[in-house]
Amino acid sequence: MLVTSKELLLDAQKNKYAVGAFNVENMEMVLAVLNAAEKTQSPVIMQTTPGTIKYAGIDLYFANIQTAANRSSVPVVCHLDHGNSLEISAQAFKAGYTSIMIDGSKLPFEENIALTSSVVKFCHAANIPVEAELGHVGGKEDDLDNSHGTNPFTDPDEAKEFVERTQCDSLAVGIGTAHGIYKGVPQINFEVLKKIHEIIDTPLVLHGTSGVPDNQVTEAIQHGICKVNYATDLRIAYTRGIKSFLNANHGAYDPKKYGQFGINEVERYVTQKMQLIGSCGHV
Ligand code: 13P
Repeated sequence: MLVTSKELLLDAQKNKYAVGAFNVENMEMVLAVLNAAEKTQSPVIMQTTPGTIKYAGIDLYFANIQTAANRSSVPVVCHLDHGNSLEISAQAFKAGYTSIMIDGSKLPFEENIALTSSVVKFCHAANIPVEAELGHVGGKEDDLDNSHGTNPFTDPDEAKEFVERTQCDSLAVGIGTAHGIYKGVPQINFEVLKKIHEIIDTPLVLHGTSGVPDNQVTEAIQHGICKVNYATDLRIAYTRGIKSFLNANHGAYDPKKYGQFGINEVERYVTQKMQLIGSCGHV
């Protein structure tokens, strides 16, 4: 069942678990994430970045996710991840996406507020929730380079003003995580997260979660994180599954044969993460 992220995140906030948001890049990954959600009876967010949308077209991704959602009784959200312009946000909205992220975090504070507010305006008119970002999640997400030279942490007082003025429904915060593969072990800055959580009620979003130790993820959920994003590890799992099959079967040429191994690996990974973040049974 296709739903918006609004109620899912509020329920997660109330009951101190998180909803997993998984980046899907092809039909096989959509199937894998759906299988894991059904097996664990978890609400789930499937999301695509502008880079992914460029690969196959927004209509094709939406059709895949919508069809998967229609097949299932678990709540499925189709979310735009890191929408970086008004245009792409409007495109996702028109395509039928049920949750939109506008990421103005690279912009100066007032410009981020202006861009986010303009997306909130048309989305809220149709009851579509909006995720925004303040502070910096480092690294590179698809072809979007998020590296900034400045302090990466979200300022709690700015966060309060930001959510009040924009009326966004959830907020991605800079608390020490980064997209992509970490060079060392990442460390979430829990002091910053706790301060933000103390002064704002808005559900908080953790980006760059691939490679973050599980105990840090569960602790972050205790301090206001309601949506947890995984992308890089799904790519790695999918590729590992296909490589292992092809390495053992040099003559294979049927995409369904090796695709199934990619599906299996992604499903296994997503199932583990749903168990970790406590979303199982919350449907
Ligand atoms: P990772 O690629 O580090 O899992 O980050 C995912 C993410 O935050 C998507 O927005």
